[in-house]
Amino acid sequence: MEEHLTVGRVAELAGVSVRTLHHYDEIGLVQPSARTAAGYRAYAAGDVERLREVLAYRRLGFGLREIADLVDDPTTDAIAHLHRLRGLLLEQRDRTAAMVAAIDSELEARAMGIRTTPEEQLKVFGAQLYETIGSAYPATRRTEPRIAARVWEALGDARTVLNVGAGTGSYEPPDRDVTAVEPSAVMRAQRPAGAAPCVAADAESLPFEDRSFDAAMAFSTVHHWHDPIAGLREMRRVARRVVVFTHDTGDTGWRQRFWLSRDYLPEVAGLVAGRPSVDRLADAIGARMEPVLIPWDCADGFFEAYWRRPEAYLDEHVRRAVSVWTRVGPAAEQRAVGRLRDDLSSGRWAERNHDLVALDAAELGLRLLVA
Ligand SMILES: C[S@@+](CC[C@H](N)C(=O)[O-])C[C@H]1O[C@@H](n2cnc3c(N)ncnc32)[C@H](O)[C@@H]1O
Repeated sequence: MEEHLTVGRVAELAGVSVRTLHHYDEIGLVQPSARTAAGYRAYAAGDVERLREVLAYRRLGFGLREIADLVDDPTTDAIAHLHRLRGLLLEQRDRTAAMVAAIDSELEARAMGIRTTPEEQLKVFGAQLYETIGSAYPATRRTEPRIAARVWEALGDARTVLNVGAGTGSYEPPDRDVTAVEPSAVMRAQRPAGAAPCVAADAESLPFEDRSFDAAMAFSTVHHWHDPIAGLREMRRVARRVVVFTHDTGDTGWRQRFWLSRDYLPEVAGLVAGRPSVDRLADAIGARMEPVLIPWDCADGFFEAYWRRPEAYLDEHVRRAVSVWTRVGPAAEQRAVGRLRDDLSSGRWAERNHDLVALDAAELGLRLLVA
């Protein structure tokens, strides 16, 4: 028989007050749908599951109205909520770890009598992930000329170009007047001598006047922004044309089509859960969307680049230059790499993916948005 929990018991287990539960009941957020033998209202298993989602979103800082929309969405089941919550919590964990590290170094500096600058104090709210992994980036990340040609063509006749989330500048057009924006000091420091001038800022708040540039571009960076829609609107504000290279994280795109995320690293679903879909990104700036195929010998070592060269993923350098591997954590990484190694030596990978060998380019959900 299904166990029903009384209001008092649920309050005790969840560490919230009975008053909070009554409030959620009154506003229709979580209502106890069962009755105890004595006739008191009680929480059935489904109510508890819903309460767990509500409390988790609450802890992540969501407002009750936003939470109601999330938990009432008929297209999101319990598993999808768990994946989304997991992704949000991982992001929060990364941010917290970076803040702890920044506080430690400020304490150390103060102990030595050194005052940190306002910039240093605020930096921690910026691009922490790339402060940690950025130095491994240049090993395999460079311009892929065939994809660069698509981006540069989409820039049209723009003379002045803003490159947002520019990193080391791999996709900056050589024949235009480029200004780069990059929040990570580690990435800025790795820009080659003679690269375009680079401003330390976030996409979400670009330090430029309206319409300062003919075009703004963002390559492989939108998925790192705290608020992608706000960042894209900023690009739209400061430039007449916007060109974005990103990926379709929906079921039919990136996750299911690419054997690595589908068969070895399903944890990527948790990383992208809760992020705006590629359609929402395109809508936010009124962009048209074009698929970008990945050549089999792609020169830029992004996550999907080695789709026909699976052995490459066994190489630590290849993995360290792609944030996904750090974000899924060492346990998932080791398991995925171990299984891939086994499947490559047993011939299982080749058997499962024999159709790829004949392809020169693959459609794995990469998209160019042009507005
Ligand atoms: C995968 S790298 C891509 C770099 C470069 N566009 C390229 O294609 O080589 C992602 C970059 O986005 C930057 N980034 C992270 N958060 C950002 C934000 N809120 N605004 C702008 N850039 C951000 C990171 O610091 C990192 O350099």
